[in-house]
Amino acid sequence: MSEITCYCFNVEKQRVIAAIEGGCSSLGEIKNLLGVTGNCARCQPDIELLLEFYLKFPKPPAAAD
Ligand code: FES
Repeated sequence: MSEITCYCFNVEKQRVIAAIEGGCSSLGEIKNLLGVTGNCARCQPDIELLLEFYLKFPKPPAAAD
């Protein structure tokens, strides 16, 4: 079971990370894609931290075998 980041819209942390890895580079883009922060916005600081971290340390490309 994945950790929930946005309880209002039942969005798991992994979905936010996947959105960032898929090209979202701002809170607005993630909000538009997943709906997060659209109600109480208590999840906003956590999403901003995820954005900051995963934009600074992107997942390395998969090694070719
Ligand atoms: S927890 Fe994300 S909008 Fe409320």
